[in-house]
Amino acid sequence: MAYKNPNLNNNAAPSGQSEYLPGVKNTIAVASGKGGVGKSTVAVNLAIAMAKDGAKVGLIDADLYGPSIPMMLGINEKPEMEVIDGKQKIKPIENYGIKVMSIGFLIDDNDPVIWRGAMASGAIKQFMSDVNWGELDYLIFDLPPGTGDIQLTIAQTIPMTGSIIVTTPQDVSLIDAKKALKMFRKVNVPVLGVIENMSYFVAPDTGNRYDIFGVGGGEKLAGELETKFLGGIPIDISIREGGDSGKPFVIQNPDSEYAQKFIEIGKNLAEQVKIKNAAASKIEIKL
Ligand SMILES: Nc1ncnc2c1ncn2[C@@H]1O[C@H](COP(=O)(O)OP(=O)(O)O)[C@@H](O)[C@H]1O
Ligand SMILES: [Mg+2]
Repeated sequence: MAYKNPNLNNNAAPSGQSEYLPGVKNTIAVASGKGGVGKSTVAVNLAIAMAKDGAKVGLIDADLYGPSIPMMLGINEKPEMEVIDGKQKIKPIENYGIKVMSIGFLIDDNDPVIWRGAMASGAIKQFMSDVNWGELDYLIFDLPPGTGDIQLTIAQTIPMTGSIIVTTPQDVSLIDAKKALKMFRKVNVPVLGVIENMSYFVAPDTGNRYDIFGVGGGEKLAGELETKFLGGIPIDISIREGGDSGKPFVIQNPDSEYAQKFIEIGKNLAEQVKIKNAAASKIEIKL
């Protein structure tokens, strides 16, 4: 009898076999312990950077209570329905080379999202079962902060390839990031690495560097948790403006030094996914 690792990337089943994400090779959660560390900013720019590098990428805005992806990607339209194999499916919206789904596409901008945990779980499951994602190399989940219902629902519904933790270099943020990391380990989602956001600031007028939130926190966290440090992103006015204007930084400044950092982080992540999948396929023990 063959033992199959339940964490193995086995959701890439031929179409029709799995109700969830049949054509998706890898599912990656972008998480953090606390809000405002730049999860969504990193998720958006990383997804686009990986798509520019040739991968087929989708992005799920799983922050159902505070969806920010529609604004960050400048999407104002509602998704269309289409019939696939006799079933009604939602067509994800495509922009900047990635496929996207957000609760923000379906509700009014000014409506607060008020629902109970069970409803949020149902909605996030529908994003995985009722959206026609097609063939994807990576489906990236932009998670809400912390360790709540939505994170658990995703981890219990599909075999996640892994998670990445976004942190600032600051200690208080690291404490929360560690909690997120422990939660993923409990539900058997491997942690693929740590990204440090808001690493430092280089003043555009003087060129002086300021370590606003301290130095080395992301690398320290990765070391302590025996996971990879995937890279750091500095604080930059254009990164913030890219989020507010609906035209992400890596689209507006494709040849910049900081866009290169997103591309490198994407490559490091792809490498970790490869290593993880190779290791998982080896754990097929014949009993
Ligand atoms: N590297 C960065 N440089 C400048 N501003 C940033 C950076 N990362 C995030 N921000 C800004 O910080 C705010 C919070 O980021 P966001 O991605 O929404 O965080 P989260 O999803 O973790 O709550 C946003 O206004 C965003 O534009
Ligand atoms: Mg967010």
